[in-house]
Amino acid sequence: MRRSLIGIAGLLFGLVLAAPGIAEEPRPGKAAVASAHGLATDTGHEILQAGGNAFDAAVAVSAALAVVEPASSGIGGGGFWLLHRASDGHSIMVDGRETAPSEAYRDMYLDEDGEVNRDLAINGPLAAGIPGAPAAWAHIVEEYGQLDLATVLAPAIRLAREGFPVDEKYRRLMGWRDDVVKRYPEAAEIFLVDGEIPELGHTLVQEDLARTLEKLAENGPDGFYKGELARKMVESVRGAGGIWSAEDLASYQVAEREPVRTSLRGHELLTASPPSSGGIAIAQILNMVEPWDLSEKTRVERIHLLSEAMRRAYRDRALYLGDPDFAEIPSEMLLSPHYAAGLRSTIRTDRATPSAMLAADAELEFAESDNTSHFSLMDDDGNLVSATLTINLPYGSGFVAEGTGVLLNNEMDDFAAAPGEPNAYGLIGFAANAIEPGKRMLSSMSPAIVLGPERTAVLGTPGGSRIITMVLLGILDFMDGNGPESWVSSPRFHHQYQPDEISLEPDFLTEEEISELQSLGHEVTTRDRTWGNMHGVMWNRETGQVEAASDPRWEEGSSRVE
Ligand code: DON
Repeated sequence: MRRSLIGIAGLLFGLVLAAPGIAEEPRPGKAAVASAHGLATDTGHEILQAGGNAFDAAVAVSAALAVVEPASSGIGGGGFWLLHRASDGHSIMVDGRETAPSEAYRDMYLDEDGEVNRDLAINGPLAAGIPGAPAAWAHIVEEYGQLDLATVLAPAIRLAREGFPVDEKYRRLMGWRDDVVKRYPEAAEIFLVDGEIPELGHTLVQEDLARTLEKLAENGPDGFYKGELARKMVESVRGAGGIWSAEDLASYQVAEREPVRTSLRGHELLTASPPSSGGIAIAQILNMVEPWDLSEKTRVERIHLLSEAMRRAYRDRALYLGDPDFAEIPSEMLLSPHYAAGLRSTIRTDRATPSAMLAADAELEFAESDNTSHFSLMDDDGNLVSATLTINLPYGSGFVAEGTGVLLNNEMDDFAAAPGEPNAYGLIGFAANAIEPGKRMLSSMSPAIVLGPERTAVLGTPGGSRIITMVLLGILDFMDGNGPESWVSSPRFHHQYQPDEISLEPDFLTEEEISELQSLGHEVTTRDRTWGNMHGVMWNRETGQVEAASDPRWEEGSSRVE
């Protein structure tokens, strides 16, 4: 009797498992890591093999990038980590964005004539926001990981102490910033050799950074934000003209935010929410172009329509977006299909709309680079992490707090230093992104995850203002059925409202195609260099295939499935 009851229960259990929708979710069975540096990709796999999950591995990769790719992100910076947990489908964005120090104020970078002092906004400690990365790392491991922080940070500590070989990217990005790094002896001592950019292959050791990472590993966030290390950072920052206080560090709070969710032909797109502008802008562009079958269009038609949608989304970015804890953001309006339909109705198929006709005009010039770091990661259970991390310009503010190895960000430049005044990426903003104490500066970082019925994608890239359009193009390419090799390598174009131009990567369009765009009224600029450093992962549930790819534009990138 007993046996048959068990038999019936077993049968019922089997039926439940076999019922559609309740059947056990497939697992990828393989893990994939794609990041901007081979040693960082290795630490991701190392932590997975040590029993960690994707969230532990993401923190290991973030910390390793902080060591081996110091130009791009670090413990003195911040980022957004978009997490998706396979077991219950929980998705969240961990917001480790920097905050303005409490002594910051709206006009702090303006001189007597009301002009922005760009040097103060991007170089040295006054350009630095309060770092969010260490708090975010600790939060992710604590809330979502399986290992402890010390285990997860161990590979980065080892890399800082033993050193890593200087690569071409390190040298190239330092070539843009060595004049600033030379102003600060502590930074020059660590990142230059006798005042010169280190040779290729030089072993770069960061002993102070190793000790700082150890403090974080041993004491959690308090090891960084309070006590001896915090005191040292504040003293050094203030001694060199900065405005950090002990209270600013002690009160830093990581935030969890709902990702921006957009449905896309049977897929769910998860992207970064404010204080990033990326998710809203991408969703707006997708909503605007939604009724058009872009795959049916010529290349010129496609670029024209997408550029018009980009132009409108970047205009709204400038007008409306900022830190949601400070500014009233009309997210519901911006994400509404009705609002998108209104904007769409202003797009002419035969003519570009001059940005000046859309108000909020400004004169712009801007630099671009591909520091900042994105990585995409999936563990063998299908947990996903899409993370974009930054210290802003290459080597951030160029300033290292004495005795700590912490290279400070220059994220304050992501605020609008004055209404309509372009920042280093030519982006403009207004009240919603004005400087206020404790506020997070608006970002373009757009880590993205697309959950589809058959295929799942994880992608993102650095590239300042261009991040949004690159991620958009990657998503469209995925929706066209292509895999990560294609997303990361396809040629790119960009429009950001101001300057009013479509910019193209070199050797993308033919002369005829460029003339066609010009005859629609577009200013077209072919740049002399490519942009972006995209890293993507894809899992095809139907075939079981797991793929990962790193942008061929930088050879230091590394992707591996194991
Ligand atoms: O948060 C942002 O939008 C910028 N600080 C990102 C900077 C960046 O991507 C630099 N690379 N070009």
